[in-house]
Amino acid sequence: MKIDILTLFPKMFDGFITESIIKRAINKKIVEINIIDFRKYSLNKHKQVDDTPYGGGAGMVLMCEPVVRAIEDLKKEDSLVILTCPQGISYKENVALKLKEYKHLIIVCGHYEGYDERIRSFVDLEISIGDYILTGGEIPAMVITDSVVRLLDGVINGESYKEDSYTDNLLDYPTYTKPFDFRGMKVPEVLLSGNHEKIKEYRLNEQLKNTKKRRPDLLEKKND
Ligand SMILES: C[S@@+](CC[C@H](N)C(=O)[O-])C[C@H]1O[C@@H](n2cnc3c(N)ncnc32)[C@H](O)[C@@H]1O
Repeated sequence: MKIDILTLFPKMFDGFITESIIKRAINKKIVEINIIDFRKYSLNKHKQVDDTPYGGGAGMVLMCEPVVRAIEDLKKEDSLVILTCPQGISYKENVALKLKEYKHLIIVCGHYEGYDERIRSFVDLEISIGDYILTGGEIPAMVITDSVVRLLDGVINGESYKEDSYTDNLLDYPTYTKPFDFRGMKVPEVLLSGNHEKIKEYRLNEQLKNTKKRRPDLLEKKND
């Protein structure tokens, strides 16, 4: 998979692409991530990318030209262009599972007050990572990229992500490691039994209990 991220602040991604699982996925050539400063697509001699809003008001607005020129330069037939936007669809694991099927994602990071409304006609999908306002689309772009890359074949062990919370509208089961007894809190005996069938049954039961207690709304969706 290839992910192109259009941003005015490329340095914000330095740690993101050079550490941990994302770095390994890049090194294993499972994903190629390009951080592109869309200032380079500005035709303005000062590389200006934003201007004041028509009608007045606070903040600066990203101009159409650099963003749209960048999209048109990078977009191929099988690309999906995503705009990070607090007004977009709510980002959920099922969206990440759909995005993982694309060969090429282009993620546009807004900044300042936002972007010229006309940019919206050049994107395929607008994504919000939650009902709050961030200073820019860089953190949402990292959230989207991270959650998609970890689903790609060969990135994390086996298919363990299939047991993670939100897969199949269930939360994960509780996990434990050594020591067996921590300040009187003991690991459930079944996990030491070596009986894989029993462990599987226990874990599914815990998933259902956990979901019922913390996120009963997910169980309603599961039964839809
Ligand atoms: C300060 S915000 C602009 C908010 C805009 N004026 C509004 O109220 O809808 C600047 C940029 O950060 C990004 N952004 C902020 N919050 C976001 C969120 N919850 N989800 C996705 N992107 C977000 C978007 O790219 C947005 O254009």
